[in-house]
Amino acid sequence: MRISVVGTGYVGLVTGACLAEIGHEVVCTDSDTEKIKTLESGGIPIYEPGLENVIPKARKLNRLSFRVNAVEAVSAGDAIFICVGTPPLPNGDADLSAIDHVARLIATESTSPKLVVEKSTVPARTGQELKRALSVYARRSSVTFHVASNPEFLREGTAVEDFLHPDRIVVGVESESAERQLKEIYQPVLDRKFNCPVHLKSCPDGPAPQWLVTTINSAELIKHASNSFLALKISYANMVADLAEKLGADIDEVVRAMGLDPRIGRSFLSAGLGFGGFCLPKDLQAFVHLAERSGVDFGMLREAEKINKQRIDRCIEKLRGALWVLRGKQIAVLGLAFKPNTDDIRFAPAIDLVNRLLSEGAHVRAYDPQAMERSRATLSQIEYAHSANDAARDADALLIATEWDEFRALDWPRIRDVMARPLVIDGRNLLSPAEMRKLGFEYRAFGRPD
Ligand code: UGA
Repeated sequence: MRISVVGTGYVGLVTGACLAEIGHEVVCTDSDTEKIKTLESGGIPIYEPGLENVIPKARKLNRLSFRVNAVEAVSAGDAIFICVGTPPLPNGDADLSAIDHVARLIATESTSPKLVVEKSTVPARTGQELKRALSVYARRSSVTFHVASNPEFLREGTAVEDFLHPDRIVVGVESESAERQLKEIYQPVLDRKFNCPVHLKSCPDGPAPQWLVTTINSAELIKHASNSFLALKISYANMVADLAEKLGADIDEVVRAMGLDPRIGRSFLSAGLGFGGFCLPKDLQAFVHLAERSGVDFGMLREAEKINKQRIDRCIEKLRGALWVLRGKQIAVLGLAFKPNTDDIRFAPAIDLVNRLLSEGAHVRAYDPQAMERSRATLSQIEYAHSANDAARDADALLIATEWDEFRALDWPRIRDVMARPLVIDGRNLLSPAEMRKLGFEYRAFGRPD
């Protein structure tokens, strides 16, 4: 099928590239012309494992192109995936102005029938507004539009794999033709009939994804309810971790046993600095606002948000407990990205932590395997190290803020020797407390007995 993708952020770029990978002809556009020019010239503006294989391959096969001209891009597809940003407004609601703008563009420029697929994360009932906007903006046109919601469940860092091997594909539709077209689009994924890109080591042969057809309102709700539930799980683990610490229990032992119950599951119960990124925090806020406006009490999710915000305070308390005064102290921070395998620092706990350290008068030298270039643009008051070792040099304390695998495998005895004081605050419970203490570190983590 011919598909247009509007918006080439994390979601749009992965969606466009993977739709081309499974055989469709895809044209992507973005209001950020610099980004499109980078893509046109063979660059990839974000670090997302797998894109470096999928994008060049699809371009070579002439299945993926990038256009600055949005009208051309939108006209090219029979289906248009809207992947534009829905950032939070000051009151926490999602800003839907980019979706409205794309609706106007599609309505006024289309000359053939279009399936308009809402992929951006939006509050329930946005699809109804989108339908209304399309018919208002296209009142002088005879083109037919079908609207569908197709929420994404892509995790940054594994987004290509998640797209090609999802556990479910949710389509919210109101017409048989929309359902049929979406089925046609996803058929290769449902049948697992495409050549697995080389980088996907696992390329699971597991069960085919579930195909779930719902109403548009339900599809939108599924997305917000899923992300908010993940946030709730993380905050629950952090709340229990705080108690475990007071009682001398070990959160790792607790969640391991809890997770063996299939009704609970082990994932998203890792305690530490909490959740960040451009999805969980903003989706949680938008969901709470949506509920409040609908007269439903979502206090439970407000608590989850509150617990998450307190993680930075907890970390600073631990640091102050060990260092007494933070002013003038040299702190090494390992990790700036909001999670490993990405260069995304949006709403990253690490960035909040660094800002808190700076406001306390500490000196920060940070290292991240991928996110330093992005950080430099927003955080100019800190030093950037070229390795973890370099960050640790003469430091009074070292904070682990992102759970990059490479931090597990560092030469810790060497790090100990270059630090002014061998104090590690492990904000992601990444390392073994026993081993770190054996190596002579003062080691503190979250929910683990000191
Ligand atoms: C999240 C969802 O997991 C995806 O399913 C969804 O598609 C995506 O948002 C989206 O809406 O686009 P993502 O933002 O990439 O994906 O990140 P997660 O893997 O969910 O991690 C979010 C944060 O939670 C990270 O800061 C991570 O470090 C933290 N986390 C995760 C914990 O603190 N503890 C855990 O146990 C798990």
